[in-house]
Amino acid sequence: MAETVHTAATNRPKRWWLWALLVLLLLGAMLGGIAWYKLFREEPQPDWVTATPEMRFKYGSIGAENDAGIPYWIFYVLPRMFPEKLPGPGGYASFGVAWEEGQELPIGFTKKTIGFPRVANTCATCHMASYRKTPDENPTFVAAGPGHTLNLGAFFRFLVDCAKDPRFNADNLLHEIRLVTELSWLDRLIYRYALIPITKQRLLEREAQFAWIYRKDFPDWGRGRDDGMNLTKYFMLELPMDNSLGPTDMPPIWNLKKYARPGTTMNFAGDSHDAQSVIIDSALGLMNAAPKSNNEFLGHVRWLQEYLSALPPPKYPFPIDATLAASGQPVFAAHCASCHASDRTGTRQPLAGIDTDRERIDAWNAQNAIAANRVVSGFGIQRKGLVEEDLIGYNPPFLDGLWLRAPYLHNGAVPTLRDMLTPPAQRPVVFWRGYDLYDPVNVGFVTQGAEAERVGTRHDTRQRANGNQGHAFGTDLPGNEKSALLEYLKTL
Ligand code: HEC
Ligand code: HEC
Repeated sequence: MAETVHTAATNRPKRWWLWALLVLLLLGAMLGGIAWYKLFREEPQPDWVTATPEMRFKYGSIGAENDAGIPYWIFYVLPRMFPEKLPGPGGYASFGVAWEEGQELPIGFTKKTIGFPRVANTCATCHMASYRKTPDENPTFVAAGPGHTLNLGAFFRFLVDCAKDPRFNADNLLHEIRLVTELSWLDRLIYRYALIPITKQRLLEREAQFAWIYRKDFPDWGRGRDDGMNLTKYFMLELPMDNSLGPTDMPPIWNLKKYARPGTTMNFAGDSHDAQSVIIDSALGLMNAAPKSNNEFLGHVRWLQEYLSALPPPKYPFPIDATLAASGQPVFAAHCASCHASDRTGTRQPLAGIDTDRERIDAWNAQNAIAANRVVSGFGIQRKGLVEEDLIGYNPPFLDGLWLRAPYLHNGAVPTLRDMLTPPAQRPVVFWRGYDLYDPVNVGFVTQGAEAERVGTRHDTRQRANGNQGHAFGTDLPGNEKSALLEYLKTL
């Protein structure tokens, strides 16, 4: 009996500790559960996003929200808080994003909840074209077309400049958010102590990597261009900044099956082996980190490749004079086909004889390719990858959907097809790019006049990497042959 009492008495405090421990563990698990729920729980996007392949291309997540996503409500209020840092009035629309009526976000911007709603980007941010046939109609959007209106450089600078502003703090942001939505007490805490400071920090970290797009002696990318090789060098390879710049047009990425022919290489200078490699590298660029799951990631890649391979180029939306076009075909065969319709299309060839601006090829080399291939294989991803050679020139591009590829050449330095057939010294020296009104007379976009200047960005061909020299093919043809050739080019 005494023995029993003794045991019970010494056990009581022990049990108390056990209970306390259990409660603590439960509390910890609950807090952990809440933290997981509020920060990492992944919800599928709504069904409308994947209702059609085109919708999926435009709004479907490819997984970039994990590491490159911006908390939705921060993204929402930034243009309201910092309108003076935008290139013009109209919020995000001033960056020339393609924005469909009735949609909450522009095309290419994804919304996905991973703990909290986040905004990130997809291929369609850059690979989506828009045009208007008349000034009073709504834009037509073409999936996988060149994003010639997008001012990506200004968008990148906007985000960094907002983060640098002392007004980017929890008090101000939460005040602004309260004007548009009612966050719960817990969500406000999370925004105040986690999301706002972390977002600020992340954006500030980008400033150093973006230093080269702030350089005064470098021309702006302007609408419709970015500098893909330098983005890769400074973001993926984290190389020190050099003196190169290689801004190029955003190319169309429809009809990718044309690259299935062995021997073709991709990108303007033929620096990547095949479509799968380019898609993988582009998607990694968007995620700015290794994929969380390679299986899921490669699933997105496969889907994109199938969708883009089968997607036809868009037809010219104005009438074509069929007889005239037919008479232009032999002109093309005689003067252009040796590069553009033969087994040299999409293959690497030297710059000599083409003589267009060389800066893009000087922005990349074999060492960079080797280093980037190493990073990707380090993620456990197999692909043919980047061509491990120095660049020698530009690939003769495929000309499918040529009418919508304006402005022309890799750096977008020649506004229209008529200008392409004009001797280089007589091509426009200064023009405005990124206005979406089509000009069927010259075959390209309207690049002069009040509206083009208001909406577009100035392209000065005398600046570095902006040159419009070279590619003089067809410029000395007699007038009637030029007209016929121009008509024929509309049919491609
Ligand atoms: C930030 C803008 C941007 C985003 C986002 C982007 N691209 Fe691109 N893409 C470019 C630019 C610019 C080039 C041309 C690069 C060069 O050659 O200098 C390019 C080139 C390509 C090419 C090669 C085209 C050809 O004819 O050689 C393919 C294919 C492509 N991108 C697919 C994709 C896919 C798929 C995604 C999404 C996973 C994507 N891109 C995301 C800007 C972008
Ligand atoms: C000797 C090879 C060669 C010949 C011949 C040639 N081209 Fe090209 N073409 C190229 C190369 C290489 C490029 C890419 C140059 C660059 O982007 O800097 C190009 C680019 C173009 C572009 C720009 C495409 C775009 O999307 O920006 C057009 C348009 C074009 N060529 C039309 C023609 C026409 C029309 C002819 C015949 C009158 C012709 N080319 C003859 C090699 C050639």
